[in-house]
Amino acid sequence: MKIAILAGDGIGPEIVAQAVRVLETLRSEGLKLELEQGLLGGCAVDVAGEPFPEATRTLVAEADAVILGAVGGPRYDALPRQLRPEQGLLGIRKALNLFANLRPAVLYPELADASTLKPEVVSGLDILIVRELTGDIYFGEPRGIELRNGQRIGYNTMIYSEAEIRRIARVAFQAARKRSCRLCSVDKMNVLESTQLWRDVVTETAGEYPDVELSHMLVDNAAMQLVRNPRQFDVVVTGNMFGDILSDEASMLTGSIGMLPSASLDERNKGLYEPIHGSAPDIAGKDVANPLATVLSVAMMLRYTFDLEEEASRIERAVKKALADGYRTADIYEPGKMKIGTAAMGDAVLASL
Ligand code: IPM
Ligand code: MG
Repeated sequence: MKIAILAGDGIGPEIVAQAVRVLETLRSEGLKLELEQGLLGGCAVDVAGEPFPEATRTLVAEADAVILGAVGGPRYDALPRQLRPEQGLLGIRKALNLFANLRPAVLYPELADASTLKPEVVSGLDILIVRELTGDIYFGEPRGIELRNGQRIGYNTMIYSEAEIRRIARVAFQAARKRSCRLCSVDKMNVLESTQLWRDVVTETAGEYPDVELSHMLVDNAAMQLVRNPRQFDVVVTGNMFGDILSDEASMLTGSIGMLPSASLDERNKGLYEPIHGSAPDIAGKDVANPLATVLSVAMMLRYTFDLEEEASRIERAVKKALADGYRTADIYEPGKMKIGTAAMGDAVLASL
């Protein structure tokens, strides 16, 4: 099992280091893992002059899976768009054809009070957001900022083909099958043609999955329902932009964006695994970031790409144990618990593992 490790920027290196310790433990027990580091994002711009350099392209093309920390930082915000760290992330998703982004939002019972929502609204929360990741307005052409009639205009293209919609819909229906057999598709068909097609194609695809109950919701309503009554959702499928926004919102139901892993998969379950949070430059290098989302991303990798369910749930149990033992990083801290740093949280997970 060849795994590319891309620590990235900001808190990336600190949190990925803890995930690597978990992988090294499994390797020392006999799992055949090959780990190789590479550069993506701002650190790649610094060293190689571009956010997704050729050496990284080769590395991730040859790997079976990729573990990523986070990319970006204020230092890079003034660069031309194609040199920004975020383009490295969009580039790797596109290059590996990682169209299916799975973002679970699960509330750990130990963290019920960490959410800003009332415990009775969020307790037991377990949602899976399936976000299309290689299409939509993030990749659509034409796009740009240009002069028209003496003033600047900015524009993008929201576009989906039926093939793109069908393949992500199938991933979502199959995921729903493994859970409660309920799927909610989110669009904005009252205004946008591309999402009218989305609704039509998802509805057609439902014919292949008669056992799954399909519902539809407009994205503005979905944003509201997520905070009003989040437990009505099980699996949610949506396009790239709506999924980006709704998954950040869903993460906050669970108390901290620092807890949530994600998987981005191609047709054959090769995957890139990353926490859904960003590079948090304000706390980088201070040993305070929460590494658990990245550790849980390793569990997702073992489950989805390598089909190692037992090892995956063992890591998840270790994380739960560390929380049950009272260990908390600053983002999930509450009085009465033990506030610890990034590396110490890694220690706690390893001890439970
Ligand atoms: C995410 C991030 C990225 C996205 C950014 C960093 C390009 O917000 O993974 O959700 O928009 O997809
Ligand atoms: Mg996002």
